[in-house]
Amino acid sequence: MQDIDRDQVVGVLNRLLEAELAGVVRYTHYSFLVFGFGRIPIVSWLREQADESLLHAQQVGEWITTLGAYPSLAIGPLLDSHKHDIAAILRESLETESAALKLYRELLGQVEGRSVALEEFARQMIHAEELHAADVDKMLRKPGDVAAFAKGPG
Ligand SMILES: [Fe+2]
Repeated sequence: MQDIDRDQVVGVLNRLLEAELAGVVRYTHYSFLVFGFGRIPIVSWLREQADESLLHAQQVGEWITTLGAYPSLAIGPLLDSHKHDIAAILRESLETESAALKLYRELLGQVEGRSVALEEFARQMIHAEELHAADVDKMLRKPGDVAAFAKGPG
């Protein structure tokens, strides 16, 4: 692990921690605002996403202290568009998740070939976030549409 630029890596990890914590708040908030026939499965899906964001935040935070640094107590941007239809929630989720994905890719770029464990962690998170984005994309398609809603992972 001696090869990594510790300050740079901690900087990205702290931004990831803030982004994941924002995810916990965002998904929990949205889960209160789902009304209509689809409420039960959608509320439980949103709460699962909140739990997953919390788990990611905890993993990221543990890495920060493993590197001997102080975890941020801040939280990432929380925009409330006050649009609470499911499609708007999912589009916002896709946007914020792709911002987190970008940060995990940045992390990968900093640790690739330098720290096996951090590289493994970054790859696992990229894998998880891409599967998540793919799921959201499918939820945003109209039944019968096969074409992706958003452009594929870059
Ligand atoms: Fe995440």
